Amino acid sequence: MEHEAPADGDTRSRVRALVAAQQDQLTRQGVDQEMLARQMRQVYEEFTQLRMHYQFGIDEVQTKVNILRQEFEQIHDYSPIEHVRSRLKSTESLIEKAVRTGGEMTIPAIRARIHDIAGVRITCSFVSDVYWIADMLSRQPDLEVLTVKDYIAAPKPNGYRSLHVIVQVPVFLSQHTEYVPVELQLRTIAMDFWASTEHKLSYKYEKNLPAPLRAELDDAARVAADLDERMERMRAEIRPMPEHSAPEPTASPASQPTTAPSPDSAAEARGA
Ligand code: GTP
Ligand code: MG
Repeated sequence: MEHEAPADGDTRSRVRALVAAQQDQLTRQGVDQEMLARQMRQVYEEFTQLRMHYQFGIDEVQTKVNILRQEFEQIHDYSPIEHVRSRLKSTESLIEKAVRTGGEMTIPAIRARIHDIAGVRITCSFVSDVYWIADMLSRQPDLEVLTVKDYIAAPKPNGYRSLHVIVQVPVFLSQHTEYVPVELQLRTIAMDFWASTEHKLSYKYEKNLPAPLRAELDDAARVAADLDERMERMRAEIRPMPEHSAPEPTASPASQPTTAPSPDSAAEARGA
């Protein structure tokens, strides 16, 4: 998302060194300029196509989220979804991450090891809604859940909380179907407020936060978590938790309504 770790000086200089070495080698080999131009064009086209496919993946997921949101607003007069934002990783930051993570620099290898080229962030008011929305999307038969990282149940050591779900969505092109992984980040407004502040501070101090600021952030993380807990208790007043659980994910696709969270996910949401 926009919360990408800023590429550190080390990565940047490695990318530069890689490019310089490549140029150097080509010059020494006396590569014909036309061939070089052709190769450069091919790399450019491959990257452009990759980005286009991932943008389509974002569009598909965003449509799904918008449908849920509008349906809720229309029928229930209450939407568990507050904001939705998406971002496509910039080519520069994609290349930087590809270098940082090591491995082959081909498009298939990069696709296989980087799963946050497409990102959609969904902000909810309440923790239980975060799990509820994740549940609804995960149950959609054309979405395949690749990984789930629950930083709400187990926050990162720095206090970061969010639910990360990588889903794979089919994109139907003229000649074939592309399966595009999209990173969903689901969080509450309080989690989002904390994460965006932490991101700005980390960016400014390049990860070397002065101790007093670090302590302030730690405290803010506790306050945000406490606020979420208190808000969760009030949520029941707005929209009581249903008594019956949602159907099992194994239910036939035709009978998969988007129902309320199961008691399990609600309990999980409360940190049980
Ligand atoms: P990358 O961090 O993207 O290399 O991948 P990863 O496999 O470590 O995934 P992880 O789930 O840890 O983080 C993915 C994304 O979550 C990041 O790109 C950020 O957008 C967000 N994120 C993770 N940790 C933090 C954090 O400590 N602070 C903030 N502000 N955002 C975070
Ligand atoms: Mg990370």
